[in-house]
Amino acid sequence: MLAAYAARIDADQPLAALEVGDLEVASTPGGALVPGDWVEVEVRAAALNHHDLFSLQGVGLPARACPMVLGCDAAGVTADGDEVLVHAVINDPSFTGPDSTADPRRSLLSERYPGTLAERVRVPRTNLIAKPAELSFAEAACLPTAWLTAYRMLFTQSGLRPGNTVLTQGAGGGVATALVLLARHAGLRVWVTSRSAERGERAVRLGAHAWFPSGERLPERVDAVMESVGAATWSHSINSLKPGGAVVICGTTSGAEPAKAELTKIFFKPLRVIGSTMGTQDELTDLVSMLVSTGLRPVIDSTYPLADARDAFARLESGAAFGKVVLAAE
Ligand SMILES: NC(=O)c1ccc[n+]([C@@H]2O[C@H](COP(=O)([O-])OP(=O)(O)OC[C@H]3O[C@@H](n4cnc5c(N)ncnc54)[C@H](OP(=O)(O)O)[C@@H]3O)[C@@H](O)[C@H]2O)c1
Repeated sequence: MLAAYAARIDADQPLAALEVGDLEVASTPGGALVPGDWVEVEVRAAALNHHDLFSLQGVGLPARACPMVLGCDAAGVTADGDEVLVHAVINDPSFTGPDSTADPRRSLLSERYPGTLAERVRVPRTNLIAKPAELSFAEAACLPTAWLTAYRMLFTQSGLRPGNTVLTQGAGGGVATALVLLARHAGLRVWVTSRSAERGERAVRLGAHAWFPSGERLPERVDAVMESVGAATWSHSINSLKPGGAVVICGTTSGAEPAKAELTKIFFKPLRVIGSTMGTQDELTDLVSMLVSTGLRPVIDSTYPLADARDAFARLESGAAFGKVVLAAE
């Protein structure tokens, strides 16, 4: 079947490791290991994430696992004709807790099992969520990674309540645009930073109350910071918080080793540092309900057919995208 896959690993030039072409999934290590009650979904739309670039660079994907179909996010149709979204967190069969993200043996689609940037994907039946008719396949495909992560950061982890001020580091990314829209709809005062005036201003048009150039001192301190940029913004995040504030971190796009860890400020102010990763199936279900009841929809930067996945990856890698890059029939 047609798929966009990591044929190899290239830490410096991730797109050099990308192939778009026919791949028999059964020939991949993941395909050979698919256990019991898995179902096949015909993919109607899939969304790209920074995770896919990291995979091509070998972050979380060892060379021995290649070729590996990329992609965590999909919406499609089952053999029974049900329209579904796919929850990308694959738990170890032995895991029984209520929070699927707490499973130390979990993986995301495309790490151990073939991902969603393909004509078909196989997932555990329990990972399927009904797609409401109100959402297009492309909109639904944006939700399982970036939007779910933003939802959990804001509503499960942060301790924020309406009226508080939240700063999102970065403006244009998939997680960042989701954070802006969700936070605005939840009654928060929403601030963002960006390296680009154009993306900062677009975030304001989207719903942020103000944007600031990356690293600029804010007019006042905030209740919480949503951090996914990592090394480049960590110090600014810590310095931007009120005493008792929280930084919720889900990623390290610019690197994981900040020049200053700011440990003294963290204990002296004192602050809370909260790690967050993906979300549970219940949170994804609630996110879908929120979109249906509010009319809120993901920002889609651009849409490409699967055969043009290389162009889609180039758009994501450029850093110029605003919102999600999606693969779907146009
Ligand atoms: N833990 C999880 O479960 C989880 C889930 C989803 C994502 N993530 C992580 O969250 C991060 C964002 O993911 P995404 O898919 O939203 O990525 P993306 O679409 O590529 O967005 C990258 C974002 O980083 C911002 N940024 C600011 N300074 C940067 C710098 N120096 N270098 C690079 N980027 C900078 C960009 O904002 P401006 O260009 O406007 O400055 C943009 O908002 C990634 O690290 C990803 O792995 C983690």
